Amino acid sequence: MKSLISIRDFSKEEILHVLETAREFEQNRVQNFLEGKVIASLFFEPSTRTRLSFETAINRLGAKVIGFSDASNTSQSKGETLKDTIKMVNNYVDMIVMRHPLEGSSRYASEVATVPVVNAGDGANQHPSQTLLDLYSILQTQGTLEGLTINMVGDLKYGRTTHSLLQAMSHFNPKFIFTAPEELKMPKEYKDFLDRRGIEYIETTSLNEYLNDCDILYMTRVQQERFTDLMEYERVKDVYTLNASMLGNVRDNMKILHPLPRVTEIDQDVDDTKYAYYFKQAENGLYVRMAIISYLLGYR
Ligand code: CP
Repeated sequence: MKSLISIRDFSKEEILHVLETAREFEQNRVQNFLEGKVIASLFFEPSTRTRLSFETAINRLGAKVIGFSDASNTSQSKGETLKDTIKMVNNYVDMIVMRHPLEGSSRYASEVATVPVVNAGDGANQHPSQTLLDLYSILQTQGTLEGLTINMVGDLKYGRTTHSLLQAMSHFNPKFIFTAPEELKMPKEYKDFLDRRGIEYIETTSLNEYLNDCDILYMTRVQQERFTDLMEYERVKDVYTLNASMLGNVRDNMKILHPLPRVTEIDQDVDDTKYAYYFKQAENGLYVRMAIISYLLGYR
């Protein structure tokens, strides 16, 4: 039995296998081979894309979904622990998909459960299913994952999608540009991870400095919900806004990704440029999550 808690739980071969299966699902998105299965969708934190694409994936595979999108309607509000909730739900289902604000909560759930657990985001830590759809989108737009320059922009401190993506891309000889204000720099543990693997990265506070030198511009939202000091959030919340007039000299193959939701970091005038890929990226979440579920349940 295998869970997906951190992107490091999957080898390079497993990552490539899931991406290939996702490609097959994109070509044929109605499959019913999970008929009779039930999958829990437990969202202790708000979500639009992750929850809806997982639940659509479950339905398209022929399984049924149970769960909640608002934990205030559950017995957690009466004081039930996460451990007890997982032990109960585990009795009803074949897999658990869970988002929770606490870092490490998904790992903990996977230790309590006897069915596979998928981490749909645990605090500022990891968001591995997002990473697999990011990789799928990178492969789709660049034709390869090898040797690319990825410019990560925005909240690199709390942005769990950047942490997972950095680790996954480390299999494919990348170069990184980290564009962030001092307060939201990439944490040391992730830079140490790259140093140990001899992977190059540059840090800057200027969005313009390396805008023309990347294959993927990975924009992120400043994660208001992770700040303990709201004054600090106010200082940095609008630090970068990408608009269409800034894209005049970017690489022809460059694509802009964003895990979404966006707030002010990408102006709507970018949406109609050939560089914008974030809505297709969100669509890809469906195919990739179908592939993750199939793989973890031993069907593909
Ligand atoms: N990308 C992402 O996790 O979006 P949601 O918060 O809407 O699920």
